[in-house]
Order: sequence, then C-alpha cells, then structure tokens
Amino acid sequence: MARFSDEFLSELRMRCDIEQVISPYVNLKRRGKNLVGLCPFHNEKTPSFTVYPDSQSFYCFGCGAGGEAIGFIRRAENLDFTEAVRYLCYKSGMVMPSEGYDDSLSQKRKRMYEINKEAARFFNSCLFSEKGKDGLEYFKSRGYKKGTITRFGLGYAPNEWRALLTYMRGLGYSYEELYEANLANRSNKDGKISYYDSFRNRVMVPIIDVRGNVVAFGGRVLDDSKPKYINTSDTLVYKKSLGVFGLNFAKNSTEKTLILVEGYMDAISLHEAGFTNAIACLGTALTSEMAHLLSRYADEIILSYDADEAGQKATERAIGILGSIGMKLRVVHLSGGKDPDEILKKYGPERFRSLIDGAANDIEFELLKARDGLDLGTSDGKMKYLEKAAQILSKTRSEITRDIYSSRLSEELQVSKEAITARIKQISQRSAKKEKDDFFRKLPQQSISDNTKTALANSTNLKTVRAEEQLVATLFKNPDYYRHIENMVSAEDFSVPLYKRIFSLLTEKIKEHRSLELTFFSEELSPSEMDTLVKISKDGVNSGTNLKFCEDCIAAMKSEKEKQKAKPDLSQISDEDFLSLFRKK
Ligand code: UTP
Ligand code: MN
Repeated sequence: MARFSDEFLSELRMRCDIEQVISPYVNLKRRGKNLVGLCPFHNEKTPSFTVYPDSQSFYCFGCGAGGEAIGFIRRAENLDFTEAVRYLCYKSGMVMPSEGYDDSLSQKRKRMYEINKEAARFFNSCLFSEKGKDGLEYFKSRGYKKGTITRFGLGYAPNEWRALLTYMRGLGYSYEELYEANLANRSNKDGKISYYDSFRNRVMVPIIDVRGNVVAFGGRVLDDSKPKYINTSDTLVYKKSLGVFGLNFAKNSTEKTLILVEGYMDAISLHEAGFTNAIACLGTALTSEMAHLLSRYADEIILSYDADEAGQKATERAIGILGSIGMKLRVVHLSGGKDPDEILKKYGPERFRSLIDGAANDIEFELLKARDGLDLGTSDGKMKYLEKAAQILSKTRSEITRDIYSSRLSEELQVSKEAITARIKQISQRSAKKEKDDFFRKLPQQSISDNTKTALANSTNLKTVRAEEQLVATLFKNPDYYRHIENMVSAEDFSVPLYKRIFSLLTEKIKEHRSLELTFFSEELSPSEMDTLVKISKDGVNSGTNLKFCEDCIAAMKSEKEKQKAKPDLSQISDEDFLSLFRKK
C-alpha cells in the first residue's frame, strides 16, 4: 500500500519546484519554456539534460535519465524513496506524515464526482421538462441547436428552493455533501440550520475536466439581472484558478492550437460553428499554472478575448504569461462585434476564420517585443534590433516569410535588404549545423530503448511494442478514453513488462479518480522505470490521436498475441514432439 497520500505528495510537489530542486546540482540555462544543463548523471560536454517546468520533470537525451523532483533527489543523493521524501520535506519545511495512509479524502472526492454528474443529469433533464421551458427558450434564443445542448450537457436549474436538494437526497446524498460540492447553500436562523439550492432559475453549463469528470458549474441568469453568472467556487475536485471550460472537447481537436475566449457562451458558439478547439478561461485572469496546463495540449494559443477595454487588458496580461513560459501565440483583433459569439451570429464562421488567419502571428509579436526598450533613432539601437530580428527570422524555414519581413525591416531601418537576408542565412546555417551534430551525437543512445531491446529478444515484434507504448501514452494524456476501452484491454494483453506495469498503475489511478502527475508514480516505479514513463509522457502522442487510435493499438497488440499463441513454445516441448513438427510438413 502506498505510504504517502496523493494530497501529501501533491503538496510536496507544489513546494519543491523542480527548477529549485535541481539548480544546486546543475547549472541550468533557459531554453524556450524549458531549461538545459550538463547532465549530472553522465559525463557530457554539451548539455542534453532538460528540465520541464510545466510537467515538473527532467529528462536527459544523452543517458535517458528522467523523473520528477523526488526521483532526481533519489539519484543525486543516492537515497531510497522514503529517504528522498524526507529530504525534500526537510528542505521545504513540510512535516513528514506519520505511518499509515488515509484514503478518506479520495473516497470523498469520488463521491463528489458522482454528485456533480448526477446534478448535471438533473439539470439537463429539467431543461427538457415543463419546468425548464424558459431555459430551453433562452438557449434557443441564443441560437443553440439541440445537438449542441446535448453535447455540452447544458441544463436548467428550476426556479425553486429545493429542487436539486430533494432529488439528490432521494439518491442518498447528504446535505453536508451537497454543501461541500457547492450545490447547496446553508442558512443559520436562530441556531436552526437549513439548506437550499445554490443555483435557481439559471441555465446551467457544466465544466468537465480532461478526464470527463463534471467538476463544476456555471449558472447564467435568463435576463439582465445581476450577478450574471454564479460559479462553483473551490471544492475538493475543483480549483477555480485552474478551471478551463471546453478543454475536454478541445483536446481531441485535430488543431494544434487552442482558441482562448472569455465566456462560456463564446466557447459554445465557436464549437457549434466548427471551431472545436475553443476553450474559455471563465472570466478569471489567465494564470501561469493554467498556461502550463494548456501548453500540454497545444503548440500555440490564439487569444480572442472581448473587444472591450477589460478584454484588452486581459489580453495584455495573458500575452505576458504565455510569453514567459515560451508559448507561441496569436492575438485576434475583433472588429465588427464585441465578442466571438456576436461576430459568429452577425457575420458567420467565415468572418471569424478570417480574423484568426489575420491575427498577428508570433513573428510580428516577437519583433515587437525585440524592439522594446531600444532607441531605433541611434545606430546602436538599430544594430541591436537588427541582430535580434535576424535571430527571430532565422527560426522560420519559410523563404517567403523571411523575404517579407526582411523587406519591411530594410524599409523601416534604412538598411539594405541583402545585408539583412545574408545575416539571417548565416545564423540559420549555423544552427542547422549544430542541430545535425546534436542529432548524430544522440543517435546511438536514442535508437532503441532498453525495453524495446528486451521485448525484441523475447521475439515480440517492434510494431506491438510501439502499439503498447502509444496506448499507454495516449491514455496518459486522455484518461477519459479509459471508460471506452476498459472492456477491450487488460494488463494481461501487454507483452513488455514495464508497459504492463505502467498500464496497471495508470488505470488504477484513473479508476480511483486520482491525479496522474508524474510524482504519483514515483513511489511505485524505480528511477529507471520512471525514465521510460517520463519519455513516454514527453514524446509519446501526436496531437489529434483519438479513441480510434487506441482501438488500433489494442487490435495490433491482440493480433500479435494470437500469433504468439499459435506458435508452439519450442523451449518447452520434448525432442520427440519437436521432430514431429518437421515430419508433418
Ligand atoms: P461575459 O459577461 O462576457 O459572459 O463574461 P458570456 O459568457 O460571454 O455571456 P454572454 O454572451 O454575455 O451571455 C465572461 C465570463 O466571465 C465569467 C463567466 O465565466 C463568463 O463566461 N463571469 C462573468 C462570471 O463568472 N460572473 C459574472 O457575473 C460574469
Ligand atoms: Mn462575453
């Protein structure tokens, strides 16, 4: 049984930032959103040891060592798991938990997911009942189709004090539980405590996390009264500062971008219009925690906040935060409407598509940033800007892009275009050479992992090994798929022992609604097993992988297993039987 609870490990993880844990051992330099340095676990002259702040992990491309903070300390200080935890506790001023493992919190959390799901069902059924006429009318007035309402699980909270309460009590949930889930309020009159529904006469939007759990609700009034929205505040299963609406759908989009908007209604309208990569940040400012979460699902964020002053301020803040973690971004300049919803309704999806296409891209954005603080009136300022600009442009491979911006720069700074393009070319050739050298240097270690080697020695074919790896990686990123494939695959179907183990651990956690952060695997997996898990979680899945992909992996695994079964195990049969195999032919 696990010695430490998820709550404890998660607190430890928060307090022991990976960068701070590692920096006494390795001289780290920032590269994009990550940090690199010389690996402390093997000898090297060029840095291939990488620290990933967004997943709070490290991985060395030279020797394959990887893990999270506890794993790093285990290796660096040569400690076992508990000792490493004790060490980090000491460093971060946390108290080591005493013996025993308390799972009452995870039980509570599980109940709360159930409560939320039942509540969402209730609100949705009300919408289509006599009571919910006004709610349905409201959604219709906003142009939502039936399919959209069903897909998002929209609903209506009746205009009564105890509609949800009565229903949920009937299912066996207590007042206290409903109160903790933020679905009921409590009043205390002369020492007499009574409970009533938090959401009344509001259309309901459930917030669903990437695993498919209903974690919170937003309830909107049907008219112009205030407050416009009531939202679930922090509960055991929901952290408002991390709340994102629509990521459960958007993560399955084939786009490599996410469109970030302000409101629920904007996001829903965008999905309805075919922009299935839209998400809403729920009125709160984008936090860097949230930005890290989003960076797992997209290469680029398209910011499309409201056109008003508040929206523009929020845009500036978001640019700063996304920039600081090295995330690519574009900013949509809304014209002709106050928010994406209005633009879609007034002019249709084409218009919004063209606004996205015309959004300032990251090159323009980076060029703007590069000139910050430089005086282009002086030759010194000009030179510095040109150098930075050449660096930025050298990163794009598109000749056309380079040509366009070189012309602009040449005009703006009164420098010959030839000089600019020559400099860009020089920089890009140098970095291409470096990339090539790096590639060949890493080749021997990277070509085939130890697991693959073992599996090959056991005569399992490479395709199956890949299928197993991809299945685990996809599940890691899309835990909600598990529900659909639960009956199709089990740990027994795996041939690589490590993948089998990771699969078991992973599915166990998914079933118990526990967090899938790497830290929570570090107790059960050895440091070298963690290497593989970290590697999988980094480069395993292409965006756009879907359920069908999982099914294909499973099919590939099964068909190989059948083949193996059909083959007699030659090491186990007698000489006589062995010879008979040949006689039959
Ligand atoms: P908006 O007022 O723009 O809401 O606030 P909206 O979703 O676009 O709704 P419509 O289209 O005007 O009907 C943006 C977001 O800010 C949060 C909600 O998450 C909302 O979607 N918000 C807004 C609140 O939490 N409470 C409020 O009272 C208002
Ligand atoms: Mn809005």
